[in-house]
Amino acid sequence: MRSAESIHPDLETVLITESAIKRRLKQLGAEIKQTYGDEEITVISIINGAILFTADLLRQIDNPVRLDCIRVSSYRNKTQSIGTPQLIHSLTLETAHRHVLLIDDILDTGKTISLVVGLIKKLNPASIKTCVLLDKQGRREVPFTADFVGFQIPDKFVVGYGLDFAERYRNLPCIGVLKPHLQNPPEWA
Ligand code: IMP
Ligand code: MG
Repeated sequence: MRSAESIHPDLETVLITESAIKRRLKQLGAEIKQTYGDEEITVISIINGAILFTADLLRQIDNPVRLDCIRVSSYRNKTQSIGTPQLIHSLTLETAHRHVLLIDDILDTGKTISLVVGLIKKLNPASIKTCVLLDKQGRREVPFTADFVGFQIPDKFVVGYGLDFAERYRNLPCIGVLKPHLQNPPEWA
């Protein structure tokens, strides 16, 4: 296995390797296929974080798929949730009477996904299910259980494979933890 340092000098540890992500995505694709059969799925991806996960997961699903994205404001100060998320860019696809699969990178406090699920429910979908790559169960402030979960992870701030810290590290191929001194850089950094 490649060392964290060789993947990116800012990483302290690799929590989930690139190959573990690939293996789990194949299984998730099979779970989703089993749930939906041959039905068409309207996938809604919460951007930017879920971009890489969505792109790779969709290629594991051979159902007919319609894809839309939704943008929710970042309400984070460094690594902590500090308020209520707001919708910034809404859907363009019709979701009424459709089977909606909402995809996010990580389920943390639960505020973001609860907000978006609430919005979609008002649009009268045939069904709504949720899929997250990562789940930090111990951090929930709003009770929420996702239908499909890639990995349960401990309460650590992670980056890579779509997840960022101040918009950086999204393009790392694995999920890792930043070195502690980089997690809370001074305000001017
Ligand atoms: P929640 O609303 O607290 O559940 O958080 C969901 C959003 O917070 C995710 O879509 C991420 O953008 C962000 N987030 C939560 N935990 C992490 C993390 O460990 N690393 C990077 N982003 C995170
Ligand atoms: Mg996000």
